Amino acid sequence: MTATTIQSDNLLFALRTATESAALAAGQWIGRGDAHQVNDVAVTAIRQSFADIPVHARVTIGDGSDAAVARAAFQRGEVLGCEDSPLRFDVAVDPVEGTSYLTKGMTNAMAVMAMAPEGSLHRPGPSFYMEKFAGPPAVRNKIDPVAPVAEKLAVVARETGKSMKELIVYVLEKPRHRALVNEVYLTGARVALYPAGDIAGAVMASIPDSGIDALVGTGGSPEGIISACAIRAIGGEFFGRPDPQLPSEHIAVREAGISTSEWMERDVLVSSDEVYFAATGITTGLLFDGVEEIGGQARTESLLISGVTGERHILTTYHPVGARDETIQVDDNADE
Ligand code: FBP
Repeated sequence: MTATTIQSDNLLFALRTATESAALAAGQWIGRGDAHQVNDVAVTAIRQSFADIPVHARVTIGDGSDAAVARAAFQRGEVLGCEDSPLRFDVAVDPVEGTSYLTKGMTNAMAVMAMAPEGSLHRPGPSFYMEKFAGPPAVRNKIDPVAPVAEKLAVVARETGKSMKELIVYVLEKPRHRALVNEVYLTGARVALYPAGDIAGAVMASIPDSGIDALVGTGGSPEGIISACAIRAIGGEFFGRPDPQLPSEHIAVREAGISTSEWMERDVLVSSDEVYFAATGITTGLLFDGVEEIGGQARTESLLISGVTGERHILTTYHPVGARDETIQVDDNADE
């Protein structure tokens, strides 16, 4: 085992303590209708976990829509860990991916983070939405980003040795995707529609024979960059293009000089192989189970991926009694 491998394993497992603690904290708020509390406890848990990690980890992606509801939101530029550590990283963090769905007790919510050497994560600026494609390693560099979805899926079918009818395509269930979903139906492929959680869909799409063969459609840019980190480590395909949805976002993107017609390749979104990804389930979803109480202990499932070793771990952890604070104070003014 080399020093690099040891450092990679240490960083990956350190990252996982942060996502586990966020999931444990947020897990107490499943189905309680309070998005403020969910985000606050998860952000606080991640900050506290990083206090013990000897890295200088600058949050380059940590806001987005959650920031609107998080009183303790991460700020872009905030440094987690240790200010004077020589190990300098960019960090992309979504303390609770799928916040509003978690508050309704719905599927696919997770705490997720990715880390790569300083300067290697793309900065999306004011671009909140991104059109994305994700697929398995077999299609890497074989798909034209501007091709119609039918053509993209034909390449997936050809390169994975499947018929079109066998393909399952993950799409967020949103009004903006009605035409896209119909295009997928016309190819003969099946659609897996989920109300939230396109990091789960993108990561599944990049893992051969995971049950999802591709992801198409528009979701968050932060989620796109976090997905690209996991997918680069796995060796799969990902590309995205800014796709503003809100009038204010259109204006901000235009004023920032960001092109909406230019597709960004996976390695532009994350420009280093030294990438670490950790995610822990909060509610049970496609990738893993959520936080569960078992025999007085809390059980979590995490997915850890290292671009250094190329390894992927699914880790089940039983947390001793008292590992999480019971902080629930139900707010009478909880969100709908
Ligand atoms: P949050 O982390 O903001 O809760 O994201 C949930 C999510 O479903 C993402 O997976 C997806 O990228 C984004 O929302 C899509 O945004 P919208 O629901 O506004 O279409």
